[in-house]
Amino acid sequence: MSITSETELLGMQQVSDAVANVLKAMRDHCKPGMSAKELDDFGGDMLTKLGAKSAPKLTYNFPGHTCISINNEVAHGVPSADKILKEGDLINIDVSAELNGFWADNGGSFVLGEDINNHLPLIEASRDILKAALSQIKGGVKISEIGRLIETQAAKRGFKVIKNLAGHGVGRSLHEEPSEILNCYDKYNQTRFRKNSVVAIETFISTKSTYAREEKDNWTLIGDKGGYVAQHEHTIMVTDGIPVILTSANGIWD
Ligand code: CO
Ligand code: CO
Repeated sequence: MSITSETELLGMQQVSDAVANVLKAMRDHCKPGMSAKELDDFGGDMLTKLGAKSAPKLTYNFPGHTCISINNEVAHGVPSADKILKEGDLINIDVSAELNGFWADNGGSFVLGEDINNHLPLIEASRDILKAALSQIKGGVKISEIGRLIETQAAKRGFKVIKNLAGHGVGRSLHEEPSEILNCYDKYNQTRFRKNSVVAIETFISTKSTYAREEKDNWTLIGDKGGYVAQHEHTIMVTDGIPVILTSANGIWD
């Protein structure tokens, strides 16, 4: 969506605060031995208390309130009761919701407890690259140039990117135009970021795979060549200068 009034900005800020606070609380709540379902129920209850509705449930009838992807799962992980979280797991939580007709989306990867499997370099790369990408986004910048930046910076650190997952417009629904804010350079994409538009920018930084494929459960995405993927996502409003990070309360950079 494009923000045209103070009321719309307030609406976007409210739903963005809701998803950001839920993401942060879920990350803090997470402990070894807990199931993904317990963690998701905690997040779902919090969304309800805030008056917000799970976006993946509303939009896709997803079997969970939030997406919880563990280790080899790239995205859209189903928060099932048989998934038990362990020390050193690479965990990604993605929270998106609707509140008063406004929609926001955010996510982040982290290690549960001690980093015994050495996932931190990948996570730090993803976090730093999202920060670098956001610092370059303003009205008039080509979307393809941000893809180039993400891909180049990942390569510099010895990582790859997932080429078939992308950031997207958001605001009046979960996925809007521009629909493909890729993590790689697409010379055919001439689209530019527009001032006052709301977009969700997300990284998909990978150790081995370059494409995500759907698992037999028809939800979970895993990498075509295995390995691990880290994702960090903020909903932002594009301006003439530094974007407004609407989901900054999620603390994914702290
Ligand atoms: Co998301
Ligand atoms: Co998203």
